[in-house]
Amino acid sequence: MNTFAVFLMTVVAVATAAPSAILVDEDPVPVVNVTTCGGFVNGSSAAINFQLGGVIPVGQVCLWTVQATYGSLRFTLKESGLGSGDSLKLTRFIGATPGYQYNVTEVGANYTYTAGTVLVSLEAGAGANSGFSLEMYSSGDLDAGGGGFTHYATYLNSTGATSYPGNGLPYNNDETAVFIVSPSQAGSRTLTFTGMDVEGSTGCIYDSVEVFAWEMGGLSSKARVCGTQLPPPIALDKGLGVIIFKTDSSVTSGGFAFNWM
Ligand SMILES: *[C@@H]1O[C@H](CO)[C@@H](O)[C@H](O)[C@H]1NC(C)=O
Ligand SMILES: *[C@@H]1O[C@H](CO)[C@@H](O)[C@H](O)[C@H]1NC(C)=O
Ligand SMILES: *[C@@H]1O[C@H](CO)[C@@H](O)[C@H](O)[C@H]1NC(C)=O
Ligand SMILES: *[C@@H]1O[C@H](CO)[C@@H](O)[C@H](O)[C@H]1NC(C)=O
Ligand SMILES: *[C@@H]1O[C@H](CO)[C@@H](O)[C@H](O)[C@H]1NC(C)=O
Repeated sequence: MNTFAVFLMTVVAVATAAPSAILVDEDPVPVVNVTTCGGFVNGSSAAINFQLGGVIPVGQVCLWTVQATYGSLRFTLKESGLGSGDSLKLTRFIGATPGYQYNVTEVGANYTYTAGTVLVSLEAGAGANSGFSLEMYSSGDLDAGGGGFTHYATYLNSTGATSYPGNGLPYNNDETAVFIVSPSQAGSRTLTFTGMDVEGSTGCIYDSVEVFAWEMGGLSSKARVCGTQLPPPIALDKGLGVIIFKTDSSVTSGGFAFNWM
């Protein structure tokens, strides 16, 4: 080995090592500001400022999906007018699988995750309350674990219907599609499937549609379906439902359709 080869190897080693050595600091202030009841929040940092100084109606449930750019996430409650009957929570949601939850109660405390995606949920209780300001900052490496949804939709209407893919074509392999039924008007709803054509298997191990309802402060699985049989209507007691569609690497079909009212 001559010195030139050693020089080349050094250059290659430095070049390949470089990307993981670039760690990004937190933004000084949030770059994205959200004021709606729920939605998709995508950025290196964000502030969810909901009804600060206003009033949140009794029974209101909101769900925000936070997709942070970098892998190290810090949430902090800046201001809160929430009462003891209200519940603000974080739920880990990597690969659209509900995971570890925090109860966000303390202004100024840090609630951290080592990867995204994270759901932020608000459930307003009976007591008088005003809103809150929750900030998220991400830092470190680009987040390899989070995101990657092939489709994401939030429905705020009181009643509605949707189909997927809905373009007359079959769905794709390797999908992780997320549909959130989160009517901005509080109240229970019923979700009813009106079409189902998803690769069938015992236990729906290949392709599946899973419906979660928000219950007892978390996502509770109500049905996991595939094939062509329509499941019975599903009660969403709090009016909040999360529908997760996952497919494997082969065999696709027509998709599915559902409504809520
Ligand atoms: C977002 O709101 C924060 C306060 O929560 C403020 O400091 C920041 O400047 C706002 N950012 C944008 C982009 O409006
Ligand atoms: C999130 O934001 C990044 C950068 O602005 C963009 O490239 C990416 O497509 C966005 N992702 C989604 C799902 O909107
Ligand atoms: C969050 O609060 C609920 C009660 O609302 C409690 O059951 C749960 O254990 C708490 N979780 C954590 C992580 O403290
Ligand atoms: C929260 O994290 C920030 C940034 O790392 C730090 O400056 C602050 O002191 C932390 N606050 C608490 C209460 O640990
Ligand atoms: C929501 O409902 C309104 C009428 O109440 C309708 O105009 C609008 O198209 C609906 N939005 C969706 C996404 O279905």
